[in-house]
Amino acid sequence: MEAPVSQILISEEALQQRVRELGQQITAECAGLDLVAIGLLKGVFFFMADLLRNIDLMVTIDFMAISTYGPGSPDTGVVRILKDLDESIEGRHVLLVEDIIDTGLTLAYILKTLRARNPASMRVCALLNRPARRLVDVPIDYKGFDVPDLFVVGYGLDLGQHYRNLRYIGALAPESLPQ
Ligand code: IMP
Ligand code: MG
Repeated sequence: MEAPVSQILISEEALQQRVRELGQQITAECAGLDLVAIGLLKGVFFFMADLLRNIDLMVTIDFMAISTYGPGSPDTGVVRILKDLDESIEGRHVLLVEDIIDTGLTLAYILKTLRARNPASMRVCALLNRPARRLVDVPIDYKGFDVPDLFVVGYGLDLGQHYRNLRYIGALAPESLPQ
């Protein structure tokens, strides 16, 4: 497969190393808690799989699938829940896992939705953070990497649903960006 990547931003080795560190940090800081890790599909699934295997705690796994209202819609941050959680999170210690936080609108909306369900606590873990485009302030307890203002693919992140299966995070060649 020829990927339209102009630059490898984060190598497979750097990803694995950082994910191991995040798992160890979460294990230390959440000691004694029975966590529910909630992943936002689909971008998160490689990160979630690797992260959880580096967390040495009691943990259950759940997923939400969401979609924004698509290109052209105003940046309201309102997202549609395509698949909701299987289990109640009332009284649970939640670890929300995201692939990338860009404007922050998606995360802000999901946090509000989940908080209304009365979890015992809520922590956020994001593999990537792109501060240059942030519109709303969101808490990030565990962060993998800051990335520059470039569209990225790989390790779960897509362009039109493709390239999720790259083993690294790559920056898209500018000529491949959607109009
Ligand atoms: P936000 O609401 O603007 O923070 O958008 C976050 C969501 O947009 C992420 O969960 C991704 O699904 C998607 N996204 C943002 N930037 C990128 C990127 O560079 N590559 C792929 N997906 C992205
Ligand atoms: Mg996403």
